[in-house]
Amino acid sequence: MKSSVYLTSCLLCLLVNGKAACRPQIGTLLEGLLKFIQEGVKFSEEEPPDAKEVLSEYDFIVVGAGSAGSVVANRLSEISDWDVLLIEAGGKENYLMDIPFIAPLWTLTDANWRYKTVPNGKSCLSLQNEQCVFHRGKVMGGSSTINFMVSTRGNRRNYDHWRDLGNPGWGYDDVLKYFLKSEKITIPELANDKKYHSTSGELTVSYAPYRTPLADAFVQGGAELGYNIIDYNGATQTGFSYLQSTTKPGTRMSASRAFLHPIRNRKNFHVKKRSLVTKLLIDPITKTTFGVQFVRNKKKYEVRARKEVILSAGAVNSPQLLMVSGIGPREHLNDLKIPLIQDLKVGYNLMEHPGLPTVTFLVNQSVTFLSSEVLTNVTASKEYLFYHGGPFSVPGGSEAIAFIDTRDPKNPDGDPNIELFYISGCISSDPTYYKFAGYSHEFYNAVYKPIEGVHCWTALPMVLQPKSRGRIILKSADPHEKPLIYHDIFQNPEDLETQLLAIKETLKLSKTQAFQKFGSRLHDIPVPGCKHLEFISDDYWRCAAKQTSIGIWHLSGTCKMGNSSDPDAVVDPRLKVYGVKGLRVIDASIMPVVPAAHTNVPSIMVGEKGADLVKEDWGLIPLSG
Ligand SMILES: Cc1cc2nc3c(=O)[nH]c(=O)nc-3n(C[C@H](O)[C@H](O)[C@H](O)COP(=O)(O)OP(=O)(O)OC[C@H]3O[C@@H](n4cnc5c(N)ncnc54)[C@H](O)[C@@H]3O)c2cc1C
Ligand SMILES: *[C@@H]1O[C@H](CO)[C@@H](O)[C@H](O)[C@H]1NC(C)=O
Ligand SMILES: *[C@@H]1O[C@H](CO)[C@@H](O)[C@H](O)[C@H]1NC(C)=O
Ligand SMILES: *[C@@H]1O[C@H](CO)[C@@H](O)[C@H](O)[C@H]1NC(C)=O
Repeated sequence: MKSSVYLTSCLLCLLVNGKAACRPQIGTLLEGLLKFIQEGVKFSEEEPPDAKEVLSEYDFIVVGAGSAGSVVANRLSEISDWDVLLIEAGGKENYLMDIPFIAPLWTLTDANWRYKTVPNGKSCLSLQNEQCVFHRGKVMGGSSTINFMVSTRGNRRNYDHWRDLGNPGWGYDDVLKYFLKSEKITIPELANDKKYHSTSGELTVSYAPYRTPLADAFVQGGAELGYNIIDYNGATQTGFSYLQSTTKPGTRMSASRAFLHPIRNRKNFHVKKRSLVTKLLIDPITKTTFGVQFVRNKKKYEVRARKEVILSAGAVNSPQLLMVSGIGPREHLNDLKIPLIQDLKVGYNLMEHPGLPTVTFLVNQSVTFLSSEVLTNVTASKEYLFYHGGPFSVPGGSEAIAFIDTRDPKNPDGDPNIELFYISGCISSDPTYYKFAGYSHEFYNAVYKPIEGVHCWTALPMVLQPKSRGRIILKSADPHEKPLIYHDIFQNPEDLETQLLAIKETLKLSKTQAFQKFGSRLHDIPVPGCKHLEFISDDYWRCAAKQTSIGIWHLSGTCKMGNSSDPDAVVDPRLKVYGVKGLRVIDASIMPVVPAAHTNVPSIMVGEKGADLVKEDWGLIPLSG
């Protein structure tokens, strides 16, 4: 039996029948889990034949069941008069995906589109073939099903900036209500803050039920440095905190689990999985979108949309689909002989948050997650199976977070330009991490092999307000072919300087008493490409960043929202594609500027707000101000 099927059945048995009936299965679960990890995960479950046949026509067709698309499909199908079809290229989720600790694994499976960037000689130099790996979920729930579950909204100024760029309705006071609409916070002390938190949404947000002593050290270390301990999703964002995650304590709350599982019985709602949308159908004369073409099991389908097609395929695939369908930069489409429908700057403005996972500290006690210890710890597995607690409940080993404005560090209400993302582990803590990040074997063997089995931690320094912009272009007119991603990391030298400031904050933090109690010291094997530079000099760190910084998978901006005087805008502030009727983009690609946040919850907010814009435009709810 496939180990994935076996493990799922074990977990299900326990969940449904309880401990006693499944005792024989418990012992072998661990072996199964290890085997599962070793053999690499293959998505081989057969998709059951669809219960509902696809109709020839719907009111709305939503492309992509990711963070934003799941919400859009839910909110639109609330209207029982509207027929909604949701089309997703990936398959169904697997119960194991709900285990927070093993989050990075899923990027090594077919639940990932596995994009890699075009090498640029400026960054990702120690990665395989100098290519950054840009993971994207290809599964129900999209990237929210393979991500790290970090729950952040960003700074209120980020959204006020969107509004001030010419997007009425997108200021912080406008979008806060949509953050609240989704949220169901399970953290009692934060739930009391009714202005910023809600307990009535679908998306549960929790603290992990388990903490290492180093998570406390991180938060206390921040206090030692003079920063506040705060709720970064509250009134202000600057300071140190434990991690809020999109989990139902101890299990992943993907957008699919939150927004699609509860509505699977709606009669007016159909889902097509493992179905790749290959083209938007647009009348070239009237420029009206009338449906989509998709491929499932090698069979081609055409489905019509009476009202609108909504593109929620994410920051790589939404621009790709627009371009293969004739909406994009004129010259580029001409080069590929794609008949032009609308000349727009699709694929530009690609943003990403660079982060540096290789500033590594070693400690002298067993206080971090080493996967060799966690996966063989019977107590830990039992704690997870029976109570969703213990180390397995911690999302990818990440436990805490800090937001700092290096330009105004003492301001308790700063505008954070860097983040420190705390993980109780480092690249050598788990044999799959370096593959997940994309590093070459040579790099791993030189720097991390020597410290395998040593307890270590990372406070990943990240650049939150990158100035660099990348671009996505088509490789060919074939929708099955991956587009080319010209990434942005460190294209603008200011971002490298900000990365350096963030590295220095991490080094400072490691010297606090809170971390020194554990004998924290910097791992001192230099990055091979930077050996010629004095270790830990500024130039060394700049070099290390170019060699080993990676994108943190917050791709956004490639179908930019803007008003009619913005020459770079692809969609208007109501998310309608300029010049084309019956077509909107609702996902992370509309973000004009990436917020100072991990982008899952912001993408869900875009889905919430986008769905309301649709309802307003069809007269179902009154226009907001
Ligand atoms: C490994 C990883 C870790 C991350 N960690 C975090 C984190 O901890 N916290 C956080 O806030 N953010 C995190 N992010 C980012 C966050 O998850 C994304 O920004 C967010 O999910 C984007 O939402 P979206 O709706 O724009 O796109 P997605 O969620 O990517 O959804 C797009 C969907 O469209 C489908 N699709 C695409 N093309 C087609 C097609 N042609 N036909 C049919 N379907 C199609 C895709 O399969 C996918 O399901 C992470 C991302 C990754 C990949
Ligand atoms: C678009 O937004 C900018 C910035 O707010 C503003 O100056 C401009 O007048 C707006 N244009 C239109 C057509 O509304
Ligand atoms: C196993 O995990 C538990 C928590 O579930 C922890 O308390 C214990 O120290 C771990 N044991 C080992 C040997 O690491
Ligand atoms: C770890 O290092 C700290 C600081 O040097 C020291 O106080 C502590 O005793 C050490 N612990 C162990 C187990 O070596």
